Amino acid sequence: MWSGRFRQPLDSAFERWQRSFEFDRRLLSHELAASGAHARALKDAGILSSSELISIMQGLQKIGDHALASPEFLEDDDAEDVHHFVEKKLVSFIGDTGYKLHSGRSRNEQIATDLRLYVRASIDQLQLDLAEWLEVFVTRAEQAGSSAMPAYTHLQRAEPVLVSHWLLAYVEMFLRDADRLGDCRKRLNLCPLGSGAVAGTTLSLDRRGMAKDLGFDRTTANSIDATSDRDFVLELVNVLSLIALHLSRWAEEMILFSTQEYGFVQLPEAFSTGSSAMPQKMNADLLELTRGKASRVIGNATALLVALKGLPLAYNKDLQETQEPLFQSAETVLALLPLVTKWMRSVEFNYEHMQEAAQTGFMNAWAAATYLVQRGVPFRQGHEQIGKAVRLALEKGCELQDLPLEELQKLNPAFDQAFYACLNLQSVLAIHDVPGGTAPSRVKHAIADAKKRVAAIRENVHANA
Ligand code: ARG
Repeated sequence: MWSGRFRQPLDSAFERWQRSFEFDRRLLSHELAASGAHARALKDAGILSSSELISIMQGLQKIGDHALASPEFLEDDDAEDVHHFVEKKLVSFIGDTGYKLHSGRSRNEQIATDLRLYVRASIDQLQLDLAEWLEVFVTRAEQAGSSAMPAYTHLQRAEPVLVSHWLLAYVEMFLRDADRLGDCRKRLNLCPLGSGAVAGTTLSLDRRGMAKDLGFDRTTANSIDATSDRDFVLELVNVLSLIALHLSRWAEEMILFSTQEYGFVQLPEAFSTGSSAMPQKMNADLLELTRGKASRVIGNATALLVALKGLPLAYNKDLQETQEPLFQSAETVLALLPLVTKWMRSVEFNYEHMQEAAQTGFMNAWAAATYLVQRGVPFRQGHEQIGKAVRLALEKGCELQDLPLEELQKLNPAFDQAFYACLNLQSVLAIHDVPGGTAPSRVKHAIADAKKRVAAIRENVHANA
């Protein structure tokens, strides 16, 4: 590609070591698309004749077809990178006209373009996968009906909530991720083609035409920035770390809930393993690996920051090192999402056990204090008095609602018979009657709203396509 000014051949070990084809072959379809857009611009600029353009387009098509038909086509012992590979194959298919394709362009703008296309395609797929993952949560929230469970703070039982309310917490978490992906897509959707090596191409190529051809919104504004910018890679890898982190938190909670100590969920056998030693064991391998994989994805975000932090403008070969963390993070999360989705579809909730747990352990104590507040007692005093009632119940080995009225009235004469009705599960759930709270009517609306927002993710992807 560049041997003219050299008197010595490259050291062969160095030559092999500096290649990127082993991993950048993933960019082949994007490289072909970008090369097609460049070829059309060359034709419009009068560099290629119509028949040369046709020949190049056919050659590019043939490369794509061969790559799809047989993986061996990509086994190339000489290709330095995906750009070199395409040029070599093109020349082997159509002869020397193939060399004309590289007129007025640089690999620096090509890799910047291919990576944008790769990130954009990954975002679209991630959005669709997230939509499917979230649809399961919404469906399961609908199925959970009026079932309740404990909500925890500090991993101690805190207050009862609807199971559906708990499920919707995950919906919010991942909806934010879908939104972040959308942001990242907006910012990256600019076309670097025509930026050349660093200063802009030397031919009068129609940059807007190339951008349009590739589905970009606009062209990048500065050639120095365009050939050295990898912010979009960093942004995606950071969003991927958040998704992986969220999946990891989910997995951790599912692991806890599947223990005999909690007994809230029944592990799906198809996604669990046994022990080679202990015949009774069923282990949550899918969940544990989900938690484990998050570490790589988070590590890749750090690796990228470090790779970029010392680079002067513009292109430096270090930029080649940004590819593998990107590919690994994207592929890790893209492999995970369909699996966790299947897991979530097949897990069984032990509703009875959850409901039982929701009614013990004084989780109605805040509701009890609120009862006093409604009777004009200052909250601090009400808190103190209910605290004392809890102590009393602990001594007796019962719940608040089992304490006799006389005992309660010793703490505060404001207690009356109506107190007991405030303590049952339905009443406790119902008083959390604010938007975003767990009162059943609020959760019903929240489910409908979540459904719409999840559907909008899909609609957006299709609108962008
Ligand atoms: N494989 C290279 C990369 O990924 C392509 C760009 C090479 N550019 C250069 N000036 N050597 O970064």
